[in-house]
Amino acid sequence: MDKGKNYEVKDIKLAEQGRKNIEWAEMQMSALLKVKERFEKEKPFKGIKIGLALHVTKETAVLVKTLVAGGAEIAITGCNPLSTQDDVAAALAKEDINVWAYKGETKEDYYRYLNNVINFKPNITIDDGCDLVTEIHTKHSHLIQNIIGGAEETTTGVIRLRAMEKDNALKYPIVAVNDNKTKHLLDNYYGTGQSTIDGILRGTSILFAGKNVVIAGYGDCGKGVALRAKGMGSNIIITEVDAFRALQAKLDGFLVMRMKEAAKIGDIFITVTGDKHVIKAEHLKLMKDKAIVANSGHFDAEIDYAGLKKIAKSSREIRALVEEFTLENGKRIIALGNCRLVNLSLAEGHPSEVMSTSFCGQALSCEYLAKNKGKLPIKVIALPEELDNEIARLQLEALGVEIDKLDKEQETYLKSWKEGT
Ligand SMILES: NC(=O)c1ccc[n+]([C@@H]2O[C@H](COP(=O)([O-])OP(=O)(O)OC[C@H]3O[C@@H](n4cnc5c(N)ncnc54)[C@H](O)[C@@H]3O)[C@@H](O)[C@H]2O)c1
Repeated sequence: MDKGKNYEVKDIKLAEQGRKNIEWAEMQMSALLKVKERFEKEKPFKGIKIGLALHVTKETAVLVKTLVAGGAEIAITGCNPLSTQDDVAAALAKEDINVWAYKGETKEDYYRYLNNVINFKPNITIDDGCDLVTEIHTKHSHLIQNIIGGAEETTTGVIRLRAMEKDNALKYPIVAVNDNKTKHLLDNYYGTGQSTIDGILRGTSILFAGKNVVIAGYGDCGKGVALRAKGMGSNIIITEVDAFRALQAKLDGFLVMRMKEAAKIGDIFITVTGDKHVIKAEHLKLMKDKAIVANSGHFDAEIDYAGLKKIAKSSREIRALVEEFTLENGKRIIALGNCRLVNLSLAEGHPSEVMSTSFCGQALSCEYLAKNKGKLPIKVIALPEELDNEIARLQLEALGVEIDKLDKEQETYLKSWKEGT
């Protein structure tokens, strides 16, 4: 581990490669760079400290640089022990950003680093999964008086925040960036769809064509994964607990069944539910020899990894972060990325272009919080729709796409109820 006044990273010598990777990401992140250009002129974060717990990736580094361009002081740590790109963390440290993160963090280090971000006394928090906000609310509530607000990146984090709000435990406003329509479309649907397959392929290099791919959860993430796996020639099986989502999956042409049935026929299992123990030890025992299990939901709770270890008579790491567990019944289960987010543990997360729109949401949310300091309700709030639409406009501009505009006659027609057949 390399340590400095403002950092703790795996190897500071990786900074040059990290810098090049950040440049590589920037090439695909024109929408966010447009926001950065404006921030450079307007300095919306002058005198504001922003503390982040986000996956420390090349794309997050572009967000950090955008916030710095807007005048913010930054402290950042990861939000998952396996998702940090060590070269990027080193590059941020070299640029004098406060950064504490390495890939493969122990639980102790994970929480020590979160506390370093908290000790930096942020005025705005950016979270992915709500660990930073929870830590502040439960152990450092005296700091809340200086916090303007926060922004949350993912579904699981928003679920936790809504539970806090319901318990009257939430003490500052938080923008649910996850709920932006631009975020859901690009990140949960297209991003998770592609990068989950990417992680499984990098880990295993298996053929998807002809395989039975069982996807637990048919939310935006599950739909995206199903779409991509289908495109590669797999047979898709969906498991769900929500009747409407299950119906959608059925009508989209997929087999829908209970996990205890799917367990017997699946070749590859992917969980994207945000729930706990969706694949239990009893399911693992039913699986075919060499079945692959992977999780792309936020926490490592979706597959009972501890249960898998218990029912295995032996295990070995056959490739980096690819473990083979041999059960008492002689069958082997292949678990990817310690059952943590497979797209970040075995691949590089979402494509940069996807993160450009997600992080436009983060950057504009921080600006919205700063501009409306003290005026927002202490709730989980949505980014105003016009800002969400602005993100779509920026991304269309990045893609070189122009669209029509309503003319006066159409505007009037769409607002009136008098004109009929
Ligand atoms: N890998 C990534 O990069 C990435 C990106 C975005 C979101 N996420 C995470 O992925 C998870 C899913 O996100 P989403 O936006 O699709 O959520 P969502 O809430 O829209 O969908 C989740 C679906 O899972 C279903 N479900 C819940 N428990 C289940 C169970 N026991 N069995 C089967 N289905 C069950 C729900 O009914 C729901 O339809 C969350 O944890 C989110 O934070 C990961």
